[in-house]
Amino acid sequence: MYAPHVASRRVAIVTNPVVAPFYLERLTASLQRAGAQATPILIADGEPAKDWSTLDHVFDELLAARYGRDAVICALGGGVVGDLAGFAAAVYQRGIAFLQVPTTLLAQVDSSVGGKTAINHPRGKNMIGAFHQPLAVVSDIATLDSLPERELAAGLAEVIKHGLVLDASFIDWLEQNLEALRRREHAALAFAVRRCCELKAKVVAADEREAGLRAILNFGHTFGHAIEASAGYGTWLHGEAVAAGMMMASELSLRLGLASPQEVMRVRQLLLRAGLPVQGPAISPQSLLEWMRVDKKAGGGRMRFVLLCGLGAAQMRADLPEEAVIEVIRDCSARP
Ligand code: NAD
Ligand code: GLY
Repeated sequence: MYAPHVASRRVAIVTNPVVAPFYLERLTASLQRAGAQATPILIADGEPAKDWSTLDHVFDELLAARYGRDAVICALGGGVVGDLAGFAAAVYQRGIAFLQVPTTLLAQVDSSVGGKTAINHPRGKNMIGAFHQPLAVVSDIATLDSLPERELAAGLAEVIKHGLVLDASFIDWLEQNLEALRRREHAALAFAVRRCCELKAKVVAADEREAGLRAILNFGHTFGHAIEASAGYGTWLHGEAVAAGMMMASELSLRLGLASPQEVMRVRQLLLRAGLPVQGPAISPQSLLEWMRVDKKAGGGRMRFVLLCGLGAAQMRADLPEEAVIEVIRDCSARP
């Protein structure tokens, strides 16, 4: 599986101290069997590590060990490792190859696919990054056995997102199989990972650089990124913030007549059954709006929102009255 990409090449495995004890030895052995010379580069765990100083540490290690342009970076871990290692690969010596070996549900269904790489800036989430496609994505469902419960739930947010914006029948399937996913039944997990990758790959193939269609994959993210950044990176998990953001975006869709009360209730029930928050933090709507204005989707100074059109379809809107957005934030947030 790895040989076509790494035979006779040097591979830097970027990972962290949480994931390494579980999977580093096994991955190193697989890469060696494929003919690679593999060495780890360890970075700190968690969202706060998705920053300049960690990126610099990766460059220091690559340069100290004299990695050249024929080297391959292999990201072993969740979306944080994947986004940061992918960005390192995008810019190291003007761009080298990289492999994604995602070990969280979120990374297997979303972040490892599609070539978006980035680090955060104190002023906004994923503000510094590049599009850089991996050579391959190798997902092993068995790695999800060691994932903490809260992280599994965070991954379910992105699973649910794919159904909400792209596939009504996948929502029906999720309503039938959510408990199987939470019990980590491998057959159910494998189906969900495969379906999300199929759905996402189709969108990315049509619009890799997000000129239009791909933006629907940001459903809930305009609110979600603002929740994450305003609370301090790592306080809310990305998937948790996206869940609360999807609830806000669903309510907005309801108020604009694009989704029915029954459909919004189904969104709410799914998120609750997945163990996810359906309310934002106790922050004033105006403060959250300030964070939302930084978001990449606020093109030309106007905030853009992905809205549901029923379940399984979505559209982008940039013409929403600010009062409607403020009202939704107020109604979907904890009381200050
Ligand atoms: P994460 O990378 O922080 O991983 C979650 C936690 O689980 C970490 O502590 C990690 O060390 C640990 N972990 C990872 N695999 C494990 C395993 N198998 N067993 C035990 N512990 C394990 O978080 P995440 O949810 O995977 O990723 C979130 C990030 O992904 C955010 O920064 C978000 O912006 C980004 N993201 C990117 C894209 C994209 O298209 N590039 C899409 C969605 C999200
Ligand atoms: N997670 C949104 C995208 O990849 O476009």
